Amino acid sequence: MAEELKLPETGERGELYAALQPQIATLIESEDDLVANLANTAAVLHTALQTLWTGFYRVKSDALVLGPFQGPLACTRIPLVPEPRGVCGAAFKRREAVIVPDVEAFPGHIACSSLSRSEIVVPLLVHGRVELVLDIDSSELDDFDEADLTGLGAVVGLLRARHWPDHVVHE
Ligand code: SME
Repeated sequence: MAEELKLPETGERGELYAALQPQIATLIESEDDLVANLANTAAVLHTALQTLWTGFYRVKSDALVLGPFQGPLACTRIPLVPEPRGVCGAAFKRREAVIVPDVEAFPGHIACSSLSRSEIVVPLLVHGRVELVLDIDSSELDDFDEADLTGLGAVVGLLRARHWPDHVVHE
């Protein structure tokens, strides 16, 4: 079956996310395989945002392990012990989204690509435990803001609802 992404004319992120969310919801509702849904979600976000790298790292005991992604080759494992490393590790440890406007100013940033200038990492939490993180790298400085936090948070929420449907959100 052909799948076609419909994007608004504008490059404004808020409008972009509003257009993407129902399309991602439709894409993932008919498939119950997590990796397949992460792969298509990464493809949709990467195509729409036109950033440098878009993908997922999954929590596997003592490391974040590379999952489906779009973009250049990336680090396969990000250690979580003795201390979580990098921006992804910071989001894992804080259990909240992290925006890094300038990766060179972030101590411990892991440079998978020398072209990366800014980054956003959004964790997916289930019962307070991080299951995976969505990581997006941009070749532009300061490329992520509140609109991305909200929009990507909603996308991660769709994945959580699809694959961890019985989770309870504690406010
Ligand atoms: N920069 C990330 C590592 C993953 S890559 O960006 C794909 C980090 O510091 O955790």
